[in-house]
Amino acid sequence: MKRFDTKTWIIVAVVVLLIVVGATAGVANKTSSSGFCSSCHAYEKISWDHGDHQEVSCISCHTKGSFNDKINGIRKVMLTTMGKVDPHRDHLPSYKDEIINNCKGCHMTDEIRQERPVFTARHDEYLQHYSNCMGCHDPGHKRSYQTKRFVGSGKTNIP
Ligand code: HEC
Ligand code: HEC
Ligand code: HEC
Ligand code: HEC
Repeated sequence: MKRFDTKTWIIVAVVVLLIVVGATAGVANKTSSSGFCSSCHAYEKISWDHGDHQEVSCISCHTKGSFNDKINGIRKVMLTTMGKVDPHRDHLPSYKDEIINNCKGCHMTDEIRQERPVFTARHDEYLQHYSNCMGCHDPGHKRSYQTKRFVGSGKTNIP
């Protein structure tokens, strides 16, 4: 029986590598999709459907960099599957100050600064007094829908 020569092995190795890379990228894409987020955050999905940002994916506002997201994601899957946290019902931590750069990435771009100098100058001023956008805006989620997740759970409103 003829053994594989070096060339064949290289081809096999390249094919295997392509499959592995492709599958990893596929999983990364899927776990960044809004549908995946909604499987654990149903009320956030409903409140997002009724908010000003239905066109903006969950991850665009909530990312803290793809590396952090994946590590935190694994932690969250563990917390959920081990029953430590019920993301549909429990109070979740909130990191408003950390996601502000994602807001700025869309709303305070250099282009917008040039086109709308008054708007951006006023906002620079606002941000001297507020540590994040959420002191004045309620973006992403319509509160009245979001807070429904606490109905019947004996828990009060979102902090
Ligand atoms: C397997 C279930 C699960 C999935 C899927 C999931 N989460 Fe979570 N999420 C959790 C849990 C559990 C917590 C609470 C974590 C904690 O207590 O530290 C949480 C917390 C959060 C928080 C508040 C705390 C923080 O880290 O900012 C946000 C925002 C959030 N998730 C957004 C998302 C987004 C966006 C996606 C999709 C990319 C997503 N989640 C997918 C279970 C999940
Ligand atoms: C336009 C930006 C934006 C989009 C899009 C968005 N969110 Fe949020 N989300 C926020 C803000 C702002 C908060 C409040 C600050 C915080 O807790 O991080 C929040 C809070 C949350 C929380 C914490 C809830 C709590 O108990 O305070 C979760 C979980 C969450 N969002 C999940 C999602 C999911 C899932 C989607 C997509 C279906 C989504 N978000 C889309 C801006 C957004
Ligand atoms: C991926 C880009 C993107 C991100 C991230 C994003 N937005 Fe937006 N935002 C939009 C778009 C698109 C609209 C709707 C079109 C418009 O009116 O400019 C909008 C609309 C708004 C409006 C006007 C709503 C109204 O009354 O019509 C406010 C305020 C706002 N966003 C604040 C925020 C804040 C605060 C954050 C961060 C939590 C954020 N956005 C994150 C793209 C984004
Ligand atoms: C002190 C309160 C305050 C803070 C903090 C604040 N805003 Fe605003 N924002 C306003 C007010 C008031 C308006 C409407 C009048 C104006 O343009 O100033 C507005 C309007 C907007 C609009 C709509 C502009 C338009 O006319 O299309 C967007 C988008 C927006 N803000 C984004 C943000 C983002 C992103 C942040 C955080 C980086 C932020 N805001 C922080 C008060 C605030």
